[in-house]
Amino acid sequence: MTPAVTLWNVLQPSFSLLDLMANTAAWDALKAHYEQMASVQMRDLFAGDGERFAKFSTSFDDILLDYSKNIVTEETLELFEKVVDAANVKGEAARMFSGEKINATEKRAVLHVALRNQSNTPILVDGSDVMPEVNEVLAKIKVFVESVRSGEWKGFTGKTITDVVNLGIGGSDLGPVMITEALKPYCKRDLKVHFVSNVDGTHIAEVLKLVDAETTLFLIASKTFTTQETMTNAASAKAWLLENLKDPAAVAKHFAALSTNGKAVSEFGIDVKNMFGFWDWVGGRYSSWSAIGTSIALAIGWENFTEFLGGAHAMDKHFIETPFKDNLPMLLAMMGIWYGNFFGAESHAILPYDQYMHRFPAYFQQGDMESNGKRVQRDGKPVTVSTGPIIWGEPGTNGQHAFYQLMHQGTKLIPADFIAPVFTQNPIGDHHPILLSNFFAQTEALMKGKTEAEAEAELKKGGLDGEELASLLPHKVFPGNKPTNSIMFDRLTPATLGKLIAMYEHKIFVQGIVWNINSFDQWGVELGKQLAKAILPELVSADKVTSHDSSTNGLINHYKTRKGQ
Ligand code: F6P
Repeated sequence: MTPAVTLWNVLQPSFSLLDLMANTAAWDALKAHYEQMASVQMRDLFAGDGERFAKFSTSFDDILLDYSKNIVTEETLELFEKVVDAANVKGEAARMFSGEKINATEKRAVLHVALRNQSNTPILVDGSDVMPEVNEVLAKIKVFVESVRSGEWKGFTGKTITDVVNLGIGGSDLGPVMITEALKPYCKRDLKVHFVSNVDGTHIAEVLKLVDAETTLFLIASKTFTTQETMTNAASAKAWLLENLKDPAAVAKHFAALSTNGKAVSEFGIDVKNMFGFWDWVGGRYSSWSAIGTSIALAIGWENFTEFLGGAHAMDKHFIETPFKDNLPMLLAMMGIWYGNFFGAESHAILPYDQYMHRFPAYFQQGDMESNGKRVQRDGKPVTVSTGPIIWGEPGTNGQHAFYQLMHQGTKLIPADFIAPVFTQNPIGDHHPILLSNFFAQTEALMKGKTEAEAEAELKKGGLDGEELASLLPHKVFPGNKPTNSIMFDRLTPATLGKLIAMYEHKIFVQGIVWNINSFDQWGVELGKQLAKAILPELVSADKVTSHDSSTNGLINHYKTRKGQ
């Protein structure tokens, strides 16, 4: 049998005392280097080296990463690589790709890479190869998707399905929403796909107004099949369907489940033959590649979905096979660490100059912040450095008219990724050149800024002088030296989107390893869930609530009083 990942077959030991010491030495060297770099101006770096773009950019397939507009030199990159090596990133990646249970707090393997392993090399979990099961589920989804898309699958009254409603939240929603939006040009437009995530009844109410029970298929997307929001929406959808079609037998033709929990799916009344399974080694925020991606496949078709998986697989290979200096995820990860841990940046902006990617920043809010929003190391000891950044962003050029002011002239350092396609899917007039001129201009402006002398000359040219000039001048200065990565790709195809998502997934992985945290659990979302469960019965009881702090009691009692309870 061919090994899962040939290059990594001989596993390196997991994080040991030796690694920690080496990591500290490499980290300290980077820290010492930071002291020299803290006042370096990118303007000067560009002025001193006409080859800076060539030296500090790299590509993989159709994706170009220009990281020259960062406060880095060749020495910085060497030190970055030492940190990556000292943290044993390659060894830890090998452990992930080979199915070791690297998610220690949940005792689970982390194998979203198996879901797109189109090389089909065996990957063992507890001694058995997961690939046959992965392929079996993919084949089952393919049959389902093709029968719905072709019109062969009929609703209970014999009508063709025209609308699909995905009910899920977090990873069971954000990925499918983002990806179907991003790949809209590939969507079957006469099969509309809707998404309901919020437990706010408004969300489902508004979607149900758009659809007809006879021609609607609901996908209940929930790994656990216990998530309160999704199960509440699923119950409401089922009640609505039964109200309209008046026969419990209709559920089989209008509901499918995407889940790991067969028992709960049957109890809900869904025939398990309409259930598409996955496994505990697929994290929620990494599940679009699994059965959770069924809504995506319904929207874009099986061939496109396969290309999407293939793109991610290509990026997986790039990640494990490429040396640091050309490794896109590793470079992005270390740039983020550089600003977060040394320059004190608190957040990181993702700014796609492609309207189809408008949910991409929101998707990686969960992808990054749920993964690396951690305060203890893998051994439970508190971290000694700052971990995951606040991720945010909006598509260009909208962001330019909203928050870029703060990026240019505010007091916070906000490193950003600018992402754009060379070719638009909608070549109308000069829209795309205008969009791209903004994309190019913004990173230039953030890097160069405008000095006092330049601002003064400009004001003088505009006819200003004396006191008027002096008072306006400070407002016209841009400090510049704001770091950005520019990521360009040819066209937003399914394969390219797969590569971009996998690139960010591996960036998050690398950062988690360097910070020595578990990027694959999410205990932090539990406390709020527990408290909400305790509060729900208090909202319907007639008694005054006194069991919480005075603020929480006050708010609950205000709600009850206003309702007349
Ligand atoms: O927000 C917590 C979380 O567990 C996410 O990790 C997950 O994507 C989401 O809830 C939904 O979970 P499920 O798919 O089990 O409904």
